Amino acid sequence: MAQNTIKIYQAPLQGFTDFTFRKVFSETFGGVDKYFIPYLSYGKGREIKKSQLREVFPENNGAFPVVPQVLFSDENELFDLVGILVGCGYQEINLNLGCPYPMATNKGRGAAWLEKPDVLNQVLQQLFATNFPAKFSVKMRAGMTDDQDAKAIFEVLNRFELEEVIFHPRTASQMYSGRANPQLFAEALELVKHPLVYNGDLLSESDLQELKGLLPEQDVWMIGRGLLINPALAAQLKGEAAEPKALRKRLKEFHDLLLESYSDRLDGAGHILMKMNQFWSYFSESFENPHKAMKLVKKSSNMLKYNAAVVEIFRDL
Ligand SMILES: Cc1cc2nc3c(=O)[nH]c(=O)nc-3n(C[C@H](O)[C@H](O)[C@H](O)COP(=O)(O)O)c2cc1C
Repeated sequence: MAQNTIKIYQAPLQGFTDFTFRKVFSETFGGVDKYFIPYLSYGKGREIKKSQLREVFPENNGAFPVVPQVLFSDENELFDLVGILVGCGYQEINLNLGCPYPMATNKGRGAAWLEKPDVLNQVLQQLFATNFPAKFSVKMRAGMTDDQDAKAIFEVLNRFELEEVIFHPRTASQMYSGRANPQLFAEALELVKHPLVYNGDLLSESDLQELKGLLPEQDVWMIGRGLLINPALAAQLKGEAAEPKALRKRLKEFHDLLLESYSDRLDGAGHILMKMNQFWSYFSESFENPHKAMKLVKKSSNMLKYNAAVVEIFRDL
């Protein structure tokens, strides 16, 4: 059963939902109410990667709603990154309290914040005292290793005026294994005063129905991998039905536009093929034989072979 009243957010996936992808997505399938930009953070030697900066430049983010995100280890990093985004004209900024990768958490970033509610409280106090001309939201997991850690964080978040809290009910140590736990989300609904957005493992209409059974009042959903596997998913969940032949045609158009856009932007077949390989690592899952599709893409050593592989894959869909 499709839901016309729901809102869908596109989750940020570093390396996947880049500005080219977001633009093509919004011009083709759409159905997304907010597109979250993968995090902006400091790398080695307090430098921000050019690729991350390009993601937030206003000229790369067109006429659809985008929300940038910051990944930070302390108030200095947070203030600097927020300053950059405010300078770009953003009025809403998302704080990443969920990145599970040791590369981030070892530096006190992302999900590491879930184990330091008192420090988070101090940092948020400073942030809100500074009166940046922007609203803030949070994206978080349930804990580093203990899924009850979120409770102390919720208490802290309740002290501030946040736009919303996106909750992915898994611990960082789970990474992406097992299933997100909707029961933790149901508990969060009782504890958090801010609007809550559900995130985790929503891949199909039946997943939404199952989640709605457990969370009947919930109507804002963030989807990551599900939209990479099936770019039509947001529109489908909102009731836009397409019969299989029309859907196949639209998927092909989406693919072709993405390829054309990366070809315009990137230098050389090697880079373009690398980007398309990455895209297919999820997109292939919407085909009957994902393994075969991926194999065909992987062994394409030049554009000619790649284009032939794509024709063959779509013929089988
Ligand atoms: C490759 C990859 C990159 C990600 N990059 C980010 C990121 O930059 N910021 C963030 O908040 N979450 C990031 N995530 C997490 C997703 O936004 C999302 O929370 C997660 O995939 C669960 O949602 P899903 O089950 O709908 O995919 C990333 C996940 C993956 C797999």
